[in-house]
Amino acid sequence: AIVPVILSGGSGTRLWPVSRPERPKQLLALTGEETMLQLTALRMEGIVGSGRPIIVANTAHAAMIEEQLSAVGLPDGLIVLEPFGRNTAPAIALAAIAANDPAAALLVMPSDHVITDLPAFHAAIAKALPLVSDGWLVTFGIEPDAPETGYGYIRMGDALAAGVNKVASFVEKPNADRAAAMLAEGGYAWNAGIFLFRADAFLAALAQFQPDMLTAIQASVDGAVREGSRLFPDAEAFAASPSDSIDYAIMERAEKVACVPVAMGWSDVGSWDSLHAISAPDAAGNTVRGDVLALGASRCLVHTDGPRVALVDVEDLIVVVSGADILILPRGKAQEVRRVTDALKG
Ligand code: GDD
Ligand code: MG
Repeated sequence: AIVPVILSGGSGTRLWPVSRPERPKQLLALTGEETMLQLTALRMEGIVGSGRPIIVANTAHAAMIEEQLSAVGLPDGLIVLEPFGRNTAPAIALAAIAANDPAAALLVMPSDHVITDLPAFHAAIAKALPLVSDGWLVTFGIEPDAPETGYGYIRMGDALAAGVNKVASFVEKPNADRAAAMLAEGGYAWNAGIFLFRADAFLAALAQFQPDMLTAIQASVDGAVREGSRLFPDAEAFAASPSDSIDYAIMERAEKVACVPVAMGWSDVGSWDSLHAISAPDAAGNTVRGDVLALGASRCLVHTDGPRVALVDVEDLIVVVSGADILILPRGKAQEVRRVTDALKG
């Protein structure tokens, strides 16, 4: 059986002021009616053999997550609630142990990405499954079109089956020079952050490369408290786990790693710029949401949750109004939002 594992732990500070710790990116409707979490859960429908999801999230978001899933008619499945974030490797380990089925194929998905071509996504999963049964850790590769430093890069090795390659090497978050060199060299894909592997294969890799993490997470599940569909791992045991991402902790080290390259309209919606890039623009190239009057404005992104925003004869601006906050910056500079969130932290 395929068990979807949805990771909902990020804070998405780059989409400030809409994304905030109390309501991070994955719990927001940024691209349409549904929230990113709802879209992620709905994406599973139609995958043959897929069961109820395991959602790994912060305790503070439990009620919001349950509300959002039931609002689109989805069962909760199991919600594993972390007392605090320890990054993705421990989060996935919680799910792999809580699944309580060594043979389960875990489909690990970030809760905050967009995929527009669902048939392509489902076909990629089908291609990966035979390798997964054989104990491979499978990643999904996106054709890169810029020297992004926020992604993992996969160097494609030999073909293992039709549409599946061995991963020759995995480079998580390269610096700008290395990213540019990989793009120029060719033969690399971006890691989509979506993984498919048997629970026992992942746990074996964890035992090999991160034994302390496995011990801590096993203890936190052994001592967990269950309340309905909510599972609370033991906080003290969980706190003893090292904090690391699956990419650094496992994918860069493991041997049997495979990649399915796939074109599926993927975006990680990492910034206001990328949201502008994936949103259908009007005739002037603007993407607007809320009460917006655009007079002679072009190629702007404007989101307002209340106050009317009027733009006159401006180009390439990002304007976001949320609650008592207003963000204004030039398009192409959306990564600089981090300067605001850093400044606000004091
Ligand atoms: N439950 C839980 N707990 N989820 C977490 C935690 C945590 O402590 N930390 C992160 N997550 C969730 C995030 O909400 C997101 O959905 C997903 O795990 C990935 O974490 P990010 O923090 O967004 O990772 P990243 O974007 O820096 O890098 C990953 O994704 C890239 C693609 O977007 C890596 O896998 C890269 O290799 C990849 O290219
Ligand atoms: Mg991310």
